[in-house]
Amino acid sequence: MPSEIRISMSLSSEIRRRRTFAIVSHPDAGKTTLTEKLLLFGGAIHVAGAVKSNKIKKGATSDFMEIERQRGISVATSVMGFEYKEHKINILDTPGHEDFAEDTYRTLTAVDSVIIVIDGAKGVEAQTRKLMEVCRMRKTPVMVFVNKLDRPGKDPFDLLDEIERELKIRVRPLAWPIGSGSSFQGVYNLYENKLSLFFPEDRQTREGEVVEIALSDPRLDELISAKSAAELRENLEIVEGVYPPFVLDTYLAGEVAPVFFGSALNNFGVMELLDCFVEIAPFPRPSRTVQRPIDPFEEKMTGFVFKIHANMDPNHRDRIAFLKICSGTFERNKNYLHVDSGKQLKFSSPTAFMADKKSIVDIAYPGDIVGLHDTGNFKIGDTLTEGEKLKFTGIPSFSPELFRYIENADPMKFKQLAKGVDQLMDEGVAQLFTMKMNGRKVIGTVGALQFEVIQYRLEHEYTAKCRYEPVNVYKACWIESDNATQLEDFRKRKFQYMATDKHGREVYLADTSYGLAQSQERFPDIRFYFTSEF
Ligand code: G4P
Repeated sequence: MPSEIRISMSLSSEIRRRRTFAIVSHPDAGKTTLTEKLLLFGGAIHVAGAVKSNKIKKGATSDFMEIERQRGISVATSVMGFEYKEHKINILDTPGHEDFAEDTYRTLTAVDSVIIVIDGAKGVEAQTRKLMEVCRMRKTPVMVFVNKLDRPGKDPFDLLDEIERELKIRVRPLAWPIGSGSSFQGVYNLYENKLSLFFPEDRQTREGEVVEIALSDPRLDELISAKSAAELRENLEIVEGVYPPFVLDTYLAGEVAPVFFGSALNNFGVMELLDCFVEIAPFPRPSRTVQRPIDPFEEKMTGFVFKIHANMDPNHRDRIAFLKICSGTFERNKNYLHVDSGKQLKFSSPTAFMADKKSIVDIAYPGDIVGLHDTGNFKIGDTLTEGEKLKFTGIPSFSPELFRYIENADPMKFKQLAKGVDQLMDEGVAQLFTMKMNGRKVIGTVGALQFEVIQYRLEHEYTAKCRYEPVNVYKACWIESDNATQLEDFRKRKFQYMATDKHGREVYLADTSYGLAQSQERFPDIRFYFTSEF
């Protein structure tokens, strides 16, 4: 067999066995616990507690120390790869704190599917709703894991209705809980017609027992009591009546979310979730670029940077750029075109992530994430190819929520400040706008914590000092129009509100929602966008 064909066959099977996904939840629903249990199943870690929560905890330490702690953890857990049943699984970590929501949105551009964790007692919470919006926009297939069934929770039917209503996605239970809280007995797995029994007295060591049993089998009455068995049969009859049978394509199209129930802490229902996940979750899907769609099976390597992580050591200002491979194979020491600068780059020590370990990798496949040592070449959204000039789409910046002027607080450190701000913006910590009127710089963020992060990191990593001043901005709108006269008129009238973003694009920093609405009315030929990609 010619070697080219052999290579493409192995490329094809490598792609098909990959599952790259993110677990998302509202803080405290159990994302960290579930991640850890999945890693335990994959043999990637051997003790519980190995995955540290990257939550920002309020309390004894000051916020920015907490942020640094979180940042230290998040480099280790950015990508957790492991092998499970002949599949290569890549879990991409997302920050828990809502002020870092934009990091999460960007991570979601690099995954092929998502598992949403919901607390069975609390139901759908605010952050889950927002994250689901991003999944819906991108038609990302999602699975739902209803967690903490060992605690008293909401009625499963009510919960499913709530998920459909609040997350605006149809659901299909593939498992059904038997009782909850102190009367929780287990889960009936509809996907495989198996019963998993729960033994609370032995919770840390035993993972429950799995019995293959049909619903009609009289032994079910003995296993969970006649009353519970009758209730289960009745509930499942309702389930089958209410929810259409599970159709794989509707899940892959992001239209229907399969739902599982369990308790991550007790390692219960987790294996069922994982087994079904590896079977039905998609392998790497085609990606979009401005120029053309990219099929993962193409021989030539393409990939984009979705995350940049600065070194924790202030003496080394190097960074790691996280590259998602979209097609072909990525090889160590091979030249690639960095489309955004036109430079040829080669990497002698690309990093692969296996659970909490990092190692140098010689070859990586679509779906994989490699860490590239970066001395300041990359920014988020950059593309690497074997020569073709491509630009991946779908990695937008959203209009920030909070805005402040940033000023130099140490006249001797002007250069350091400029460099620091520049690099932090490349990392995606916040967005920078330059006012056309007077050249003043405005920082826009999603949450208040970022202002602290910037100030702290400028001081510790760049020896620069900044201070903030209030600025009256409600929203950043990227503008565009085919009507040159109207655009010119708008620019003149709104001169004091006009700015450019980091890429030199024109942005209108509306001061109030009223001002914005009025502008939209008066200038009907101008299109106002709230994300940088349109
Ligand atoms: P997150 O990453 O989504 O923020 O949640 P995390 O896994 O950190 O879990 C939040 C809390 O919920 C933790 O308790 C965790 O032990 C608990 N938890 C997770 N899964 C279950 C479950 O199935 N049942 C019950 N009863 N609790 C669960 P904590 O007290 O905040 O932290 P810890 O001190 O126990 O680590």
